[in-house]
Amino acid sequence: MTEQPATQERTLVLIKPDAVARGYVGEILARIERKGLRLAALELKVAPNEVAQQHYAEHEGRPFYPSLLEFITSGPLVAAVVEGPRAVAAFRQLAGGTDPVEKAIPGTIRGDFGLETQENLVHGSDSVESAEREIALWFPAL
Ligand code: PPS
Repeated sequence: MTEQPATQERTLVLIKPDAVARGYVGEILARIERKGLRLAALELKVAPNEVAQQHYAEHEGRPFYPSLLEFITSGPLVAAVVEGPRAVAAFRQLAGGTDPVEKAIPGTIRGDFGLETQENLVHGSDSVESAEREIALWFPAL
């Protein structure tokens, strides 16, 4: 039996303020494109507090939450909608684990460029359901 093509998905990617400040936007977008994923939307902006709070609502109450909000709103970030077969898992593979030292392996974005669990360069949606919620939040016109 022939294998069915993987379902097309969309995922929300944030190139976080640390990565923008360090000049990694081009490198990260190039990795996304080289993987075969497509950019469906792209915006450089400072995240409004309201958007940041909703984006990280699942972490409210955790010790790092206040600092995470301060960091993600601290400067310009790049928000992107990325499309392709199994795009959610494909981008998380490119990103590497949340902790750039303990979890992300070399060859991944975090494994190659990161040291801190908060300033870890990128965010990628963790499921198709999260992706739809996050895309609606960051790109309400899409
Ligand atoms: S966890 O611990 O399994 O819930 O981690 P995860 O869901 O992968 O991501 C948590 C997000 O919070 C940011 N952050 C931290 N996580 C864990 N520990 C500490 N100390 C911490 N500080 C910040 C982390 O960068 C994840 O952000 P996103 O943007 O979702 O990748």
